[in-house]
Amino acid sequence: MKHLLTAAMPRDEAIALLDLAEDMHQIQDRELKKLPALRGRTVVNLFFEDSTRTRSSFEIAGKWLSADVINVSGKGSSASKGESLRDTGLTIAAMGVDGVVVRSGASGAPALLADWIGKPVINAGDGTHDHPTQALLDAFALRRRIHGRAARGKGLDGVRIAIVGDIAHSRVARSNALLLPALGAEVTLVGPAAFLPVPAADGTRLGLRAETSLDAVIGERPDALMLLRVQLERQAGKVAPSVGEYITGWSLTDERLARLGDAAIMHPGPMNRGLELSSRAADGDASTVLAQVTAGVSVRMAVLYSLLASDHATDQRSADHRPADHRPANDGGLR
Ligand code: CP
Repeated sequence: MKHLLTAAMPRDEAIALLDLAEDMHQIQDRELKKLPALRGRTVVNLFFEDSTRTRSSFEIAGKWLSADVINVSGKGSSASKGESLRDTGLTIAAMGVDGVVVRSGASGAPALLADWIGKPVINAGDGTHDHPTQALLDAFALRRRIHGRAARGKGLDGVRIAIVGDIAHSRVARSNALLLPALGAEVTLVGPAAFLPVPAADGTRLGLRAETSLDAVIGERPDALMLLRVQLERQAGKVAPSVGEYITGWSLTDERLARLGDAAIMHPGPMNRGLELSSRAADGDASTVLAQVTAGVSVRMAVLYSLLASDHATDQRSADHRPADHRPANDGGLR
């Protein structure tokens, strides 16, 4: 693995990363949370969009692996003066960093950065496109809930997961739609018609079954319900359905919670309590919300380790350097 740009990966690669994250997870129980694996390496967290979970867990993951971690945000950097993504990336790479974690509102920005800078790039969420470490941590948390400490080497074969909400605007949904079926899970997308992605020629959406009735899907007793944040900021002014209609049709209310049985209740955060789910659902025994956050550190440690620690990663990295005249000429207006 040279970069981590997408959650689209073969099953064996995903399981290897999840198993490595299991190894990393053991550090959570230690008093001294420090491994020497990335001593002498420098990682830059380049965040052009706000984040609590992803940025801080990448920082913790890098520090627990003994890397030097530098945080650069869009606000407060020269990006706010109009510097392009390409120039920002080349500037950071010229300082001798070993890897860049990037979050951007522009779908495809991490892939462009990977082409331009010749260093390992990790996609920490790009527009409505992909959020691969989120899907990996979701899979990790769910695999642990189902298989406990015997999770190593296992996928999610036959596990039935409903992803609920604003699928069309959600990079979390896209990444999970790529990763979870690769691990053997049966995924159903659920939401109002306006929030479902466009259908393919075979009638599926993102290659998956789609339903508009959450109540019908709850009646099928899924193993997990993954609730997505309603992303008001990505809807360019059109809010359909209304908040009231959304709660009536697609919120995990206390009444729906009572019909759900012991299904895992997942949410990537940040949650809009009372909109996507009730507080009882968010805080109850079936909720994996905080387990997902904890898993985020372990998964991000595994990804950083895979890209930056091994001799293999070093060889891959030097092979990825390209002369300046082979790099894309401009950044397509991305900032
Ligand atoms: N789930 C997620 O990406 O959260 P943050 O925006 O807080 O990083």
